[in-house]
Amino acid sequence: MKVLVVGGGGREHALAWKLAQSSKVQAVYVAPGNGGTALDARLENINITDIPALRDWAIAEKIALTVVGPEQPLAAGIVDEFRAHGLRVFGPTQAAAQLESSKAFSKAFMKRHGIPTADYETFTDAVAAHAYVDEKGAPIVVKADGLAAGKGVVVALTLHEAHEAIEFMLAPSPDFNPLGVQHNAGGARVVIEEFLQGEEASFIIMCDGKNVTALATSQDHKRLLDGDQGPNTGGMGAYSPAPVVTPDVHARAMREIIMPTIRGMEKDGIPFTGFLYAGLMIDAQGKCKTLEFNCRMGDPETQPIMLRLKSDLFDVMMAATSGKLDQVELEWDRRVALGVVMAAHGYPLNPRKGDLITGLPPLHAVDPSVPEDVVVFHAGTASSQGDVKGVVSSGGRVLCVTALASSVKEAQHRAYEAAQAIHFDGAQYRKDIGYRAIKP
Ligand code: AMP
Ligand code: GLY
Repeated sequence: MKVLVVGGGGREHALAWKLAQSSKVQAVYVAPGNGGTALDARLENINITDIPALRDWAIAEKIALTVVGPEQPLAAGIVDEFRAHGLRVFGPTQAAAQLESSKAFSKAFMKRHGIPTADYETFTDAVAAHAYVDEKGAPIVVKADGLAAGKGVVVALTLHEAHEAIEFMLAPSPDFNPLGVQHNAGGARVVIEEFLQGEEASFIIMCDGKNVTALATSQDHKRLLDGDQGPNTGGMGAYSPAPVVTPDVHARAMREIIMPTIRGMEKDGIPFTGFLYAGLMIDAQGKCKTLEFNCRMGDPETQPIMLRLKSDLFDVMMAATSGKLDQVELEWDRRVALGVVMAAHGYPLNPRKGDLITGLPPLHAVDPSVPEDVVVFHAGTASSQGDVKGVVSSGGRVLCVTALASSVKEAQHRAYEAAQAIHFDGAQYRKDIGYRAIKP
């Protein structure tokens, strides 16, 4: 069978890498892919990103299954388009993808269905937004409505920061960007919400519209710098499992957040199919609130999660696109997987491209002496010569060096050992990925 993975980040490299391991899969195409998917002989990059063109290509190539990685094509309706032409695709429809693509939609949905989340108000008028912030005080959180690749959120510790964020998001001008917020066109509306305290975890499930299967738990590190300092990013590293998600917290998240969401979407006439990612804030008592929904896998969470998945991902996806997820029991490696993101100079604001990457290990498939339990997933890379020597950076997050080991400490050690052998000018990476899971 032929499989298509849509996207070109580290998440898509990990999904494609895993799908290629299935004995039922003859070819995995990645559109557009990256330098890492170009180097792996089991994968093939397809340079098409336009949805109708990709649909026509998938029909012509008799693609048996399409898996969509990023939020943009989902929000643009790729699933609706593929399904309308009889193609099997795993992901939410455009209507269901609003759980991520519109914060205003997802907050109203949560309110309507009694799903725990931070108190909030939505504003289009800057004067009213400023007045609300003055009334509520700081700390307070200001979020642009619309997709902003995890960078449209300002956790304002002072009133001044909150006012500046509102000013920028509601009255944007190219010259006024005091906070360095990544603004996009969706930001003409802001959600202002209560600041929540606790520990975050990524709670990701698969749904076929009705049945739900939880993936292994994980935790991301959103801030650029060690100790969770510096600006928010798309994610600087992740590990799985996340000890903060105890069996009790897991049961509570399923009962209070995931199932009411899936049933709520059914009730509202927009059943959810695909990966659903609830960003949880877990307080000291183990109570969870939903920080956000994503209608896709997390990046970089996917990289450690795929390293731990023992089940055949192709079989799982076929079940998930046939309404048969109730017949699937996912099998996980009991070990810990941990991924360290190596980002480009200037990330997240102005990532530099074109830096030559040296020290990449050969692929295990090419050189079996290379350990199987350390995998360098590529994200913003391009390969010019068809081998690991000709890879250059081409985006903000460049690589995710991921290792599997019997403890968090050991996985951390192995991932950093591999990361230290890799070099490109201006490379930035956190030195403390996994610190919350390591007991002092
Ligand atoms: P989001 O894109 O909504 O997940 O927000 C990005 C990051 O901002 C989250 O991962 C949190 O670290 C932080 N954040 C978002 N909302 C809140 C909140 N209500 N309280 C505290 N931190 C938040
Ligand atoms: N790692 C955060 C995200 O994928 O949104």
